[in-house]
Amino acid sequence: MSLGYFDDQRREYVINTPKTPYPWINYLGNDEFFSLLSNTAGGYSFYKDAKFRRLTRFRYNNVPVDTGGKYFYINDGGCVWSPAWKPARTDLDSYECRHGLGYSTIEGQKQGLSAAVTYFIPMGENAEVQIVRLKNTTDQSKTFKLYSFVEWCLWNAEDDGANFQRNFSTGEVEVEDSVIYHKTEYRERRNHYAFYSVNAPLAGFETDRDTFLDNSNGFDHPDVVYANENQNSIAHGWSPIASHCLEIELAAGEERELVFVLGYQENAEDDKWESKAVINKTGAKEVIARYATPEQAKAALQGVTDYWSDRLDNYVVDSSDERLNRMVNVWNQYQCMVTFNFSRSASFFESGIGRGMGFRDSNQDLIGVIHLEPERARQRILDIAATQFEDGSAYHQYQPLTKRGNAAIGGNFNDDPLWLIQSVTQYTKETGDFSILDVQVPFNNDENNTGTLLAHLKASFNHVINKLGPHGLPLIGRADWNDCLNLNCFSKDPNESFQTTENKGDGKVAESVMIAGMFVYFGQDYAELCKEVGDNAEADRALTEITRMSDAIKQHGWDGEWFLRAYDAAGDKVGSKECDEGQIFIESQGFCVMAGVGLEDGKAEAALNSVEEHLSCDYGVSLLYPAYTEYKINLGEISTYPQGYKENGGIFCHNNPWIMIAETKLGRPQKAWEYYTKIAPAYQDDKIELHKTEPYVYAQMIAGKEAFKPGEAKNSWLTGTAAWNFHTIAEHILGVKPSYKGLLIDPCLPADFSLNAIKRQFRGASYNIEFIRQSPEATKVSKIEVNGQEIAGQVVPAQAQGSDNKVVVTLS
Ligand code: GLC
Ligand code: GLC
Repeated sequence: MSLGYFDDQRREYVINTPKTPYPWINYLGNDEFFSLLSNTAGGYSFYKDAKFRRLTRFRYNNVPVDTGGKYFYINDGGCVWSPAWKPARTDLDSYECRHGLGYSTIEGQKQGLSAAVTYFIPMGENAEVQIVRLKNTTDQSKTFKLYSFVEWCLWNAEDDGANFQRNFSTGEVEVEDSVIYHKTEYRERRNHYAFYSVNAPLAGFETDRDTFLDNSNGFDHPDVVYANENQNSIAHGWSPIASHCLEIELAAGEERELVFVLGYQENAEDDKWESKAVINKTGAKEVIARYATPEQAKAALQGVTDYWSDRLDNYVVDSSDERLNRMVNVWNQYQCMVTFNFSRSASFFESGIGRGMGFRDSNQDLIGVIHLEPERARQRILDIAATQFEDGSAYHQYQPLTKRGNAAIGGNFNDDPLWLIQSVTQYTKETGDFSILDVQVPFNNDENNTGTLLAHLKASFNHVINKLGPHGLPLIGRADWNDCLNLNCFSKDPNESFQTTENKGDGKVAESVMIAGMFVYFGQDYAELCKEVGDNAEADRALTEITRMSDAIKQHGWDGEWFLRAYDAAGDKVGSKECDEGQIFIESQGFCVMAGVGLEDGKAEAALNSVEEHLSCDYGVSLLYPAYTEYKINLGEISTYPQGYKENGGIFCHNNPWIMIAETKLGRPQKAWEYYTKIAPAYQDDKIELHKTEPYVYAQMIAGKEAFKPGEAKNSWLTGTAAWNFHTIAEHILGVKPSYKGLLIDPCLPADFSLNAIKRQFRGASYNIEFIRQSPEATKVSKIEVNGQEIAGQVVPAQAQGSDNKVVVTLS
């Protein structure tokens, strides 16, 4: 790997060059305060909501890409450089970026001076801490100046990028000691402010961008830094910034560490002011005092590392394949936490001002983190369920700050309700916490109209059968999982969004075979849960409906060699060999086979063989084939993308795991493994330049075989791909599945792969599960011993809280 490599020992990805094919980023923060940070120090911070509480500015889709960040400049005898290469872009003698779990360190060297900046957000703190380590590696003493730089965002990121007639007049700051305070709009309705501090006396500062840069320069050439002389400017309107200047002298070989803190603070309404127009800064000063010394800051950094070690210890695989180990034990779980925290809000592809939390997205993200953060998962489930309506339908999105459903987008995506069944049943199986089912949860956030969570699931289940179309298959509504299959939209107006436009017609014809498959798959989980809580009548009713739906799929959803995708609003087939384009789709093959439809009569096998023949290529499995070459008004957004991109025949990494799970259902481990390794980031070392996005995380989409540039990835980080791939490898391929009675052991392993052990926490007990394969292909469980005793069947019963258990599984 020329651009970087995995340092497994330290759980870091090490980047060797600032000139990566695309900014390679990391996420800092785990609670309420977050930052995005690229390998050249680009990115921004926000408190809770990337739209309404953004602290620092970032210029999306600008040139050079990745503009705006947490920058440093050094002026060493007239040579101006940045440790992260950007923004100064002076050639460095050496450069390295280490993205770790919840922190990043970027180090540059120039003229015998080394500067390394470690960025992180301490656990529970609403502030980013930056430890700057400066070392003089020469045998002479050195005197130089260090300049920090952030540009304030005027809080509402959308307004900040648009409302210039007002915003050029509102900016306000204060400077006291070594702290720069940002207080735009604090005089009126805001009772929050931001601050940026350093634990050393200043040689100077700037808070006015035009003074710092000069209006005709970019961030690469700040006038003040080049002149090496501060104006100590105070911003009045225009664009407020925060830049500290420190004069530093280092003896030969001397090293010095500084601590910068970039934080967010709220004051009570009646406690906002110290004196007229002067912020009450008590809160900020308390935060700054907690990181007054490098030792304090490093202890907080250790806290972040300990948090991750503790969490990742909950699930550890030990196999002969180091790439698998690093995916499963570190990077895939890490990405699962990031998607859980961020949903689809803020990445380098999601601007943070658009979508809130998606109903379907957040339910799916949950399945990747329940074993890591059961309590937060529980709360999230209740928040999501509260945006559901009494008839089971749901707001498609909700805002994280208010937890209210987003009326601007509304509902009517008919797959949404079913994802709640998935997250809740995964949660109850993992935790054994049935009490969540009895919690009274509002419908549409109305505290006066509530139902138990179990009643919400029933509403989800019924929502599907209350909305069936002419073939007895579920009506699709605006779309199902595939946001771009808009069968009722018929849009001719380029100013309309396919997602938010109300459907034309009554929507009583277009049906989704995918939702039918989902209903059978998740419906079985619902029935199992009903049995578990003793409601056998409801379980039986559910099973009857499921059988009826399976029959409808076999009768009207089968195309001869694969499952159809849908019927459009005219009742015509979508995803059939009779179509001129879009003859086969991935989603219905995945969900129908996962659900077990057609396992008994060869349909399932035929469907997966067709997937391999028509959809698979070296880079993964495409969403459909052949891609649409023109706009089809009856199909909507799917046909708007050029061939091979996004939903129009791109490799949507999110749904590739459905095919992997389906292959395990058929008992074809080799195929499941092949699909897993085709897209798992750690296996792509030879494709990094082509892929472009971060080599340590999944991207939402890789351009498909019909694309102009097959194999090029986009939309890294925030994608359901993370949770689904973790779920698939952990539960279906390595095959340790939480179930109501205990851990079901049912692996589906490729030949010649040695799985030594899986260490796992489960309901408060610890399990070390060792595997013995009696032949290189052996994958059927023939014997299980728990603490030396052979058990009957494949379920290891849940053991006493706090116990340490040894399980030996023999495969033959
Ligand atoms: C995006 C959306 C997700 C949708 C998928 C397919 O990833 O976030 O909700 O299911 O696209 O269209
Ligand atoms: C577009 C994208 C899809 C995404 C949707 C979200 O349709 O193609 O992936 O889910 O926007 O609004």
